[in-house]
Amino acid sequence: MCGIVGYIGKREALPILMDGLKRLEYRGYDSAGFSVANGDRIVTEKAVGKVAELENKINEKDIPGNLGIAHTRWATHGKPSERNAHPHRDCSKKIFLVHNGIIENYKELKHDLEKAGHKFSSETDTEVLAHLIEEYSKQVPFEEAVWRTLAHVRGTYGLAIIDRENPQKLIIARNGSPLVLGVMDDGYVIASDVAPIVRYTDRVIYLDDGEMAEVTGQSCKITNFKRKKVKKEISKIDWSVEEAEKKGYPHFMLKEIMEQPEAVENSIRGRLVVGEGIAKLGGLRDVSERLRRLKRLVIVSCGTSYYAGLVGKYMLEEYAGVRTDVEHASEFRYRKPLLDENTAVLAISQSGETADTLAAIREAKNKGAITLGIVNVVGSTIARETDAGVYNHAGPEIGVASTKAFTSQLSILALLTLFLGRQREMSFVMGKRIAEELAEIPKLMKSVLNQADEIKKVAEKYSKYSNFLYLGRKYNYPIAMEGALKIKEISYVHAEGYPFGEMKHGPIALIDKNFPTMAIATKDSVYEKTLSGIQEVKARSGKVIAIATKGDREIQKMVDDVIYIPKTLEMLTPLLSVVPLQLFAYHFAVGKGLDVDKPRNLAKSVTVE
Ligand code: M6R
Repeated sequence: MCGIVGYIGKREALPILMDGLKRLEYRGYDSAGFSVANGDRIVTEKAVGKVAELENKINEKDIPGNLGIAHTRWATHGKPSERNAHPHRDCSKKIFLVHNGIIENYKELKHDLEKAGHKFSSETDTEVLAHLIEEYSKQVPFEEAVWRTLAHVRGTYGLAIIDRENPQKLIIARNGSPLVLGVMDDGYVIASDVAPIVRYTDRVIYLDDGEMAEVTGQSCKITNFKRKKVKKEISKIDWSVEEAEKKGYPHFMLKEIMEQPEAVENSIRGRLVVGEGIAKLGGLRDVSERLRRLKRLVIVSCGTSYYAGLVGKYMLEEYAGVRTDVEHASEFRYRKPLLDENTAVLAISQSGETADTLAAIREAKNKGAITLGIVNVVGSTIARETDAGVYNHAGPEIGVASTKAFTSQLSILALLTLFLGRQREMSFVMGKRIAEELAEIPKLMKSVLNQADEIKKVAEKYSKYSNFLYLGRKYNYPIAMEGALKIKEISYVHAEGYPFGEMKHGPIALIDKNFPTMAIATKDSVYEKTLSGIQEVKARSGKVIAIATKGDREIQKMVDDVIYIPKTLEMLTPLLSVVPLQLFAYHFAVGKGLDVDKPRNLAKSVTVE
């Protein structure tokens, strides 16, 4: 949610800022802007809309300077407009800053500042920061003014600040919103995540909450809010520049759908010992004995990651015998979660920065539960704050609609099921069976992806409809929800995901010839029941597209269209059944001419509660 980037060093700042904004655009794309400092001259440009609008506006203007900050916005306070776009500044046009997060007490601060004579030029919460720094700068140096300002604000921030009177310095600070400092040979590039940094360096420092860095072209000094200097470790980024590019695909979403066999392969590589029917999860080694005594697992996550958690519940309860509850992270901390030392709370998050999930994990820690993570982004906050965890290794996911992270999460949940199951009553034979079938998934996924053209034709056939019902049972119930979410978020059509058995308790009233149903009807333990549900839809003139198991000719006679997937173990079916739904949603949206990588109102990483 909002992306910030900054540079200080020997190079020209503007090209680094513009490239960084493009790579961070998936975090927000309502408006964008930058400030570049050249000595005591600061040039600021802003534009409403995507980064391309800003690029058109500056139209190769020469804006020299070796220090700069930039921002791509996902609006919270104040609608998308040029005046609300960042960077924001103080009255004297001395302090310029970009901010990711929310200043909760901005109204009181603004009121006091206005009383003291400050003139505001935007409706944002952020602008108070510039005026407060200005106010303090009257008495103390720039860095101290920033400290004093931060001591007064309540809320979350990733901040980058420049001062006309300190043209050799960039100050950054973090509390609740991610900030990464890239260490180059001739300077520093800072950003909300590693995407803009990886082009210049693979050496990064992850700032923690309560830390501020004073960065010059040659050095950086990091201090915590107690004003103590902190020694930070330099980490290595394991993503390459190529991985974060489209590689000839028209959209990141399609590239990421197509990358799923490889992503799952990477998630299970070195972790699956097929011959022994076990999973080796190095990230859980230190807590392994505590996990053996575990009585209950609570999964907290949001959106697509939440649906992965729901599939995980079916896997973990059926095969590992571990009671599992799945909760929307956004609800978890606002009720009274009953946790004890025999409960583990598992956060599932692609970005590792989702504010709701992070808050849930912090609450779980307060209550004494052991916290675990399944996270894709290495070094992200959730990965660092959980007691132990497993990285996805799915590679960067840029498309706002999550695809490869989801199937990678499912494969890790299958590994976790093996891991916990074999610590308990799961037999060697069952462990081996799961391991063998999981190892086959990447190959089977490829065969589903080979049908992309046929799935595109089905999506075209249904292009005139603006309502869909997605139905599935047991392992495929969360997949129905995920399929509906995919089409909703990128096509803006109404879709409802439901457990098939619930249809007759309400949603059946919606069905008529204009309300098609996507029915996941694979040959598994609930197949017969699913077929009865399909009959009920057909009896009400509803059109049905079925996701069925290869070789099932019977179903063809009952439904309007069928997409086949290969047979696998029931618990692994979701890894295959979701793929046609992703492709269907993708082609449906592209057919409408929509920007599937940047759907309206959404952002990739939701760092506000
Ligand atoms: O990064 P996270 O996995 O924590 O993100 C959670 C959700 O915001 C995310 O899955 C969202 O629902 C996606 N846009 C779904 O495609």
